[in-house]
Amino acid sequence: MTIDDRSGRRVPAHPERARPATHELERYKSLFAARTQGMRSSAMRDMMSLTERPDVISLAGGLPDTKTFAPELYAKLMSRVAAEQTAKALQYGPTEGLAATVRCIVEVMAAEQTLVDPDEVLVTTGGQQVIDLVCKALLDPGDVIVAEAPTYPGAVPTFGAYQADVAQIEMDSDGMPIDELEATLDRLAAEGRRPKFIYTIPNFQNPGGVTMSLPRRRRLVEVAREREILVLEDNPYGLLRYEGDPLPTLYSLDAALAGRGGASDFVIYLGTFSKILSPGVRLGWAVAPAPVLEKLNLGKQGADLCSSPVTQLFVAAYFGEHDWRAYLETLKALYRKRRDAMLGALEAHFGPDARWTRPQGGMFVWATLPDYIDTTDLLARALETEAVAFVPGRAAYVDGRGASCMRMNFAGVAEEDIVEGIKRIGRVIAEQVGLFGTLTGGAPRAAQQPEPAAEAEPMADVVQLRRREQRESKQRSN
Ligand SMILES: Cc1ncc(COP(=O)(O)O)c(C=O)c1O
Repeated sequence: MTIDDRSGRRVPAHPERARPATHELERYKSLFAARTQGMRSSAMRDMMSLTERPDVISLAGGLPDTKTFAPELYAKLMSRVAAEQTAKALQYGPTEGLAATVRCIVEVMAAEQTLVDPDEVLVTTGGQQVIDLVCKALLDPGDVIVAEAPTYPGAVPTFGAYQADVAQIEMDSDGMPIDELEATLDRLAAEGRRPKFIYTIPNFQNPGGVTMSLPRRRRLVEVAREREILVLEDNPYGLLRYEGDPLPTLYSLDAALAGRGGASDFVIYLGTFSKILSPGVRLGWAVAPAPVLEKLNLGKQGADLCSSPVTQLFVAAYFGEHDWRAYLETLKALYRKRRDAMLGALEAHFGPDARWTRPQGGMFVWATLPDYIDTTDLLARALETEAVAFVPGRAAYVDGRGASCMRMNFAGVAEEDIVEGIKRIGRVIAEQVGLFGTLTGGAPRAAQQPEPAAEAEPMADVVQLRRREQRESKQRSN
């Protein structure tokens, strides 16, 4: 292993040996737990190393733009923590998190119009750890989770590692259709199965870019209460809204129904500082009903004892000394422009057969290409010939669906790179469309597979372009 000077990342000294060969794995096979068979590397983690090539324009990451954080402020806050809280910063902390950090979390939750009791907060090592701890606390092998389709690609390997069965419900423009959810719950009940939790990202969903409507939020919470099923509300992007009115969190809606002075009965809330401040601090949180929180806390003790006091104190110093909302506003202004740049570039370069979502916030656009294009193959081609990357849609499904879809990040990429990146992807798509046309004698094929619900009722704010068939028949009739 060596360290790459430019990126500071570890790079294998022998790339050909970076992954163990099958015969090497075989040697240890009998030692591994059965659950390791469900463990997969997250598509995005794999991509990170690929896309760190300096010549690659990567729309693949889930990255916020940390270059926007003022270096002087970072230096000032860190030196303050170092000078004034040396022993505390360098010591273990309580598993539930430092009180000063929990106060910041309560403040962020209030900005989401959600009142929380500090005692119901667990500080975690990123929001990712909440997903892991919830699975650890709730799942036995073979248990069912209900999730959106597509779902957060980083949750897919976690669900796999805990050997969960995931029922994915195709979203439309208003997020997860709750009647579909209820039908799925009925079907599962008929099989004697009850999901352990429903996993949803209600705001500017990663990767779909769609937002769950208010009626659906209300109904989801009612369904959870009627059927006594927990909901994991994953909300990293709620405060990154570029247009439209904020919607209440599921946590607050359930708390209102619970009528116990603010605490929810069935919603476990996941928050994070990653997108409003920095993923490098690796700090997130869970807010959960007390019995659930206790199990999460026990799980966390086994995982890492506590999240880093160094970064917890950094966050507390930041909230104490700086207007975090003002920084959020600068992020929002920047990301809004980048989103618009991406939508404009898609319009110009993606061709008539593609469609994509138009997110009101967050960091991602989800595009759907003609079904004969496999975006995993397309990515290989895009990297090789055009040095551009995106996340292939399959990463967001547990069952191989999503093959003609892709996720693209606009938040962490400069406008000119977004435009150039989309242009490059557009060229690879055009090549594939042309190739398909040649192979099939120029006749565009009607979709053969049943398209997901998005086809019948397009996904949120989808820019629906004229399909090629329509365009050509119009040309013929002219
Ligand atoms: C939906 C969702 N959940 C959780 C996470 C995990 O974020 P972190 O661990 O950085 O808080 C992410 C990160 O991209 C995400 O998009």
